[in-house]
Amino acid sequence: MPAVIIVGAQWGDEGKGKASDQLGTKVDYVVKYNGGNNAGHTVVVNDEKFALHLLPAGILTPNCTPVIANGVVVDLEVLFSEIEQLNARGIDTSKLRISNNAHIIPSYNKKMDAVNERMLGKRKLGTTGRGIGPTYADKMNRIGIRVQDLFDPSILRQKVEGALYQKNSMLMELFAGESIDIDEVTNDLLSYADRIKPMLMNVTAELNHALDAGKTIVFEGGQAVMLDIDHGTYPFVTSSTCSAAGACSGSGVGPRRIDRVVGVAKAYITRVGEGPFPTELFGEEGQRLRDAGMEYGTTTGRPRRCGWYDAVVARYATMVNSLTDIVITKLDVLTGLEQIPVCVAYEIDGKRVVDMPESQSDMHHAKPIYEYFAGWTEDISQCATFADLPANAQAYILKLEELSGCRISSIGVGPEREQTIVRTPLLAD
Ligand code: IMP
Repeated sequence: MPAVIIVGAQWGDEGKGKASDQLGTKVDYVVKYNGGNNAGHTVVVNDEKFALHLLPAGILTPNCTPVIANGVVVDLEVLFSEIEQLNARGIDTSKLRISNNAHIIPSYNKKMDAVNERMLGKRKLGTTGRGIGPTYADKMNRIGIRVQDLFDPSILRQKVEGALYQKNSMLMELFAGESIDIDEVTNDLLSYADRIKPMLMNVTAELNHALDAGKTIVFEGGQAVMLDIDHGTYPFVTSSTCSAAGACSGSGVGPRRIDRVVGVAKAYITRVGEGPFPTELFGEEGQRLRDAGMEYGTTTGRPRRCGWYDAVVARYATMVNSLTDIVITKLDVLTGLEQIPVCVAYEIDGKRVVDMPESQSDMHHAKPIYEYFAGWTEDISQCATFADLPANAQAYILKLEELSGCRISSIGVGPEREQTIVRTPLLAD
């Protein structure tokens, strides 16, 4: 199985880092293909917790080449600060490779992110404030700065000038703000050129040749299908293609080369930021999941909104990503509940709807229709096989599998790498 995509099957934070990290020792390349440091992977290795925002989880695996591909937006300050933090803990990051075509998040786009949110007022998105949206907007607007621009100071200055022409006039006119200095930004960007140079790689050529040679590649999706710019709950989404298709456009590896697409979903569901969320729980039930699941953002520290597993979302994720497998994480968080509700369909204006609605208003009005499953009280954190799980936990998983339209290949029962029940290995031994 040489090319595997791992994607979020909900609204993000499903534990994708753990899933791709588990494959790491058998993997030659781990490729981040979308998003930037709005992501947050927490990976636990030998009791040490690593919070990564920009670097792919593969950075922690010896012998694996971690790659930041063209679809990613890179904050250079964050890149080098994460590298330094890992190096200080004895982790070798020298294999990290970056595409010349990846876009850079210039400092002014962090300011623009805040400005955009302020302009939206009550309709704000609740972004991570990392400059992600403005940088993808610049990319589409053809005024973006790419990694390769760092190696031509005169072109770089012209590009910064072009981008700031619009942004400065907006900042000055609308917010009576100070204008951003072109030379300051250019010099700041240039100061990273020498350090990034050894990491450059023709990512598309290298990955395709690697597949020709029978190497194994894992594409690590940031965010999730419900935050995808096209298929998510627009406009309450991020600005990249988080779904499986993004692995192809974001790296230059074509769809026929992909062997397996793995969706990661929690045994319940969370979301951060604004936007519709039909199974959201308020009050005590939500707080119980938040506390038991430690549902606070890795990137922003924001408390995550929590709710019951939504099979409409899961079926949609299966469809949009053509999932071959689902990895369920955090089943242990549900231990102790007498019964567990699962949303099987939505009620919208009195009608039962089983497919994800296309209209934003319908999604805002959607009420969950629940089926209830018996819970369990036994500690499942040490279960090593599916048969070790209490009967009710097994039944819950089998029901999720049926409702989600995709086999469940592994089940997380705790935060450690080893606390995973594997039913079907994601990679052959
Ligand atoms: P942005 O990606 O910072 O532009 O934020 C847009 C939306 O995506 C906001 O609702 C964020 O909370 C959400 N978002 C971005 N990255 C993540 C993530 O890694 N996990 C969960 N939500 C995210």
